[in-house]
Amino acid sequence: MTFGYPGASRSVLEHLDLTIPAGTAMAIVGVNGAGKTTLAKLLCRLYDPQTGRVEVGGIDIRELDVADHRARVTAVFQDFVRYELSLRENVAPLGASDDVVLDALDAAGGAGLATLDTVLARGYDGGTELSGGQWQRVALARALAAVREGAGVVLLDEPTAQLDVRGEAEIFSRVLAATRGATTTLLVSHRFSTVRLADRICVLEAGRVVELGSHTELMALGGRYRSMFDLQASRFGSDGEYDEQGEEIVLDSLD
Ligand SMILES: Nc1ncnc2c1ncn2[C@@H]1O[C@H](COP(=O)(O)OP(=O)(O)OP(=O)(O)O)[C@@H](O)[C@H]1O
Ligand SMILES: [Mg+2]
Repeated sequence: MTFGYPGASRSVLEHLDLTIPAGTAMAIVGVNGAGKTTLAKLLCRLYDPQTGRVEVGGIDIRELDVADHRARVTAVFQDFVRYELSLRENVAPLGASDDVVLDALDAAGGAGLATLDTVLARGYDGGTELSGGQWQRVALARALAAVREGAGVVLLDEPTAQLDVRGEAEIFSRVLAATRGATTTLLVSHRFSTVRLADRICVLEAGRVVELGSHTELMALGGRYRSMFDLQASRFGSDGEYDEQGEEIVLDSLD
């Protein structure tokens, strides 16, 4: 598959060939501009590739009804949506039982943020404003509620950038526990503590897959993934995630 944005002279994804087995979680890593978000957008059918195709369950998504496809795919992007509506409507815009909404909030670490009827905007009677990290938990809860309501594909494009490293890894392990088996998950993260939780990791470089395998396999391969991981580890302690002040680092800052 090859894709370039309309009007751009260069392709962002070049002869990309990637299969995500149903029911598994794939992490995508790569530097800023590698094409990670673009890949997620193609899976949502926000764009179509110029050559090749995106298939879900063996069917070219261009042949699927757009509304049906969007109901099967739930996505949380870097710039996720915030509705000036109640917490309930933010988690389940299309409606769901309170049980589903509360379970999803709980799994996303957002239990007790507000009552389900609280409007998530100041300026409304009884309304409240959430922090960036709290909004991210709400957005993740939305994805988990969609899974409970039948979505089979979850795309998470750095939805936790405002959480600390421990918070992100904890949430992803819960999300993966809630989705493993029935759901196919693609997650984009710059943090190895999260990335290594995925069944498989794809290293994307200039729109191509340069490495693909489990964390253990890619470490043993001793290639690009290994060198990025080791660079973090050498600078930021043995687990590769923290420096002395407990600050996170991201892959992008290393290039
Ligand atoms: N809407 C757009 N129109 C034109 N070019 C775009 C658009 N969105 C992204 N690009 C370009 O496509 C390339 C890949 O961008 P993309 O957002 O997929 O990268 P990324 O891997 O998600 O990066 P990051 O880690 O910063 O999120 C970049 O060169 C970017 O400038
Ligand atoms: Mg991106």
